[in-house]
Amino acid sequence: MSSYTHLTIADQGKGGVVRVVTIDRPKALNALNREVVRELTAVVDALGADLGKTRGLVITGGGPKAFVAGADIAAMANMSPEEARAFSSEGHTLGFKLAALPVPVIAAVNGFALGGGCEIALACDFIYAAENAKFGQPEVNLAVIPGFGGTQRLLRRVGLARALELCMTGEIIDAEEALRVGLVNKVVARGEVVDAAVATIETIAKKGPLAVAAAKQVLHKGADLVLAAANQEEIEAFASMFATSDQREGMAAFLEKRRAAFTGE
Ligand code: CAA
Repeated sequence: MSSYTHLTIADQGKGGVVRVVTIDRPKALNALNREVVRELTAVVDALGADLGKTRGLVITGGGPKAFVAGADIAAMANMSPEEARAFSSEGHTLGFKLAALPVPVIAAVNGFALGGGCEIALACDFIYAAENAKFGQPEVNLAVIPGFGGTQRLLRRVGLARALELCMTGEIIDAEEALRVGLVNKVVARGEVVDAAVATIETIAKKGPLAVAAAKQVLHKGADLVLAAANQEEIEAFASMFATSDQREGMAAFLEKRRAAFTGE
């Protein structure tokens, strides 16, 4: 595994199947500068090229206070529009790459997830929050807007009116409110959020891996299509599962009342 300046990488869970990436700049509350974005992208690219034993990715923040308190304001303060466009594009590329990974990606939010931090969490398949987590898009306080996909992913996650309210007021909400509006899937005790995400990926790792990848792909793609086209994606993906030996194995195992042994083929 490569070494990174701002990230800590560990393989956790039974058999080390869960790659846990910790964004580790606690003195700046894990703020995202270009280097951090590039390192995260490199981690995702490496997994995309060769998953090896990895069956899911967890992203979390180092230190006791923050997941990620946003894009690095000091690094952005003197950016030109061209530099800001390039920075924003790199954040968006990372988001697309997380969605394209054929394994689940969970944000384990252990404190502030503001601005670009909330956006990185939104770019994960789903979010688990520690009870001290705080979410928001406070960019308007700095006279800018979300730049790593926050406007559009928030809109799709919590609906237009709530997304508008969050992006225009810069309001910061707590974990319970984030749960209530559907921004996060689960709230757990402080200190247990990474373990909860790892446990979920361990559960998913027992399923047919091609089916897990297909479900993720169809859901992400379908979210941006009209219903008839999205349903067609499902039909094709459903059909393609029947060309796999895992489908034969999964159904035979059920009928023979034994545990399936999937190979990912
Ligand atoms: N960028 C750079 N440094 C940051 C930072 C950020 N986003 N957030 C916090 N820090 C730094 C602080 O400057 C401070 O550094 P020093 O100790 O050197 O002064 C350190 O982290 C600790 O922060 P605070 O002292 O402010 O901690 P606090 O507990 O009083 O407040 C906070 C915590 C409410 C999260 C506050 O730090 C804050 O409001 N941070 C900025 C949040 C923000 O505006 N995020 C959006 C950024 S814009 C963006 O993300 C654009 C995009 O969409 C791509």
